Amino acid sequence: MTRSLPAAMLAMALLSGAAHADDLRQTALEIFKPLPSTIPALKDNIVTPEKIELGKALFFDPRLSASGVFSCYSCHNLATGGDDNMETSVGHGWQKGPRNSPTVLNAVLNEAQFWDGRAEDLAAQAKGPIQAGVEMANTPDQVVATLNSMPAYVSQFKAAFPGDGDAVSFDNMAKAIEAFEATLITPAPFDAWLNGDDNALTQEAKAGLQLFIDKGCSACHSGVNVGGHGYYPFGLIEKPGSEILPPGDKGRFAVTETVGDEYVFRASPLRNIALTAPYFHSGKVWDLSVAVEIMAESQLGEALKPEETAQLVAFLDSLTGKQPVITVPILPAETAATPRPVTEIR
Ligand code: HEC
Ligand code: HEC
Repeated sequence: MTRSLPAAMLAMALLSGAAHADDLRQTALEIFKPLPSTIPALKDNIVTPEKIELGKALFFDPRLSASGVFSCYSCHNLATGGDDNMETSVGHGWQKGPRNSPTVLNAVLNEAQFWDGRAEDLAAQAKGPIQAGVEMANTPDQVVATLNSMPAYVSQFKAAFPGDGDAVSFDNMAKAIEAFEATLITPAPFDAWLNGDDNALTQEAKAGLQLFIDKGCSACHSGVNVGGHGYYPFGLIEKPGSEILPPGDKGRFAVTETVGDEYVFRASPLRNIALTAPYFHSGKVWDLSVAVEIMAESQLGEALKPEETAQLVAFLDSLTGKQPVITVPILPAETAATPRPVTEIR
């Protein structure tokens, strides 16, 4: 009898612990979603193996840039988390762009692309950097001429877009890249836990998840990518200093020209965040703990205790997923008709 009481209490404690774990999962499933186990369907773009192969080649091909130096891969390196680990990206003619490069991993599941949400989907997005003066500095006509100059590309486009009389086009290039990007999905311990594996998260990560919800981080960072859909003022409660929030970049204001949108940015998708320092659109913060503290202060008006920061970071670490295994594609060789690289800044 003397022993049965503590045993019963222990059993109850364990039971309520289990109930608590289920409660947390229940709550989490209302806020977040595990990654899909298949390639997500795209709007007006059927994903086929031929399209994915072509898109991968294009993603790696520096000849989509005027200089022949920059490919999508230059700034979205799949060996380093799908970004470039620079403060802000460096592109054509070594020009420094205005913003930090976000990861392409899981980007297909973001409801809007870019820090200010100005592109609707990945196909719309892919056309931007090719033409941006500080990125790839090219023109659609020049890209199409480049692709048409290499017979192997022409056959690849025909295989990827059967029945399309104008297979080698700027639009189809963007669609093929989008199809490849849709394969860049990284299931993480957090997904395994959401799907029912109690051991996939450490106690510290679970405590961090609880804080992430209780403190209100998940009010903005929610859904399948733990962010990546809504827009919020950076500095909702307290504006961070101008070194982190440079006054020149007014974020979504440039898209909507609505005063209320000044310094409004997309709540960042937080999957693989441990791999994609430096942080924020300005890329000024290198330490994830510091980024978390800044968020708590600027968005929630709260100073975190060191152990809370550590728990939140442990949760964010559980969003680091299995990285896609990519074989480097061998690209078609140039021909006499291929436009030559231009390195001048125009
Ligand atoms: C010179 C560097 C550079 C190159 C080259 C480049 N990007 Fe980017 N990319 C960026 C930066 C910087 C941003 C963020 C821009 C912004 O929000 O204003 C970005 C944003 C994106 C996003 C949005 C991700 C998100 O979470 O919103 C995607 C997708 C993307 N790029 C794909 C591509 C593709 C595809 C190519 C090749 C056609 C490419 N990029 C070429 C630097 C680059
Ligand atoms: C009111 C909405 C809101 C709340 C609440 C919020 N965030 Fe954010 N978060 C954002 C926005 C907007 C950005 C993008 C800021 C920028 O422009 O760089 C961001 C960016 C981040 C980044 C940097 C992402 C990157 O790719 O560089 C991290 C990390 C982050 N948030 C974590 C948190 C944590 C942890 C909490 C809770 C303590 C939190 N956030 C609360 C809106 C919010």
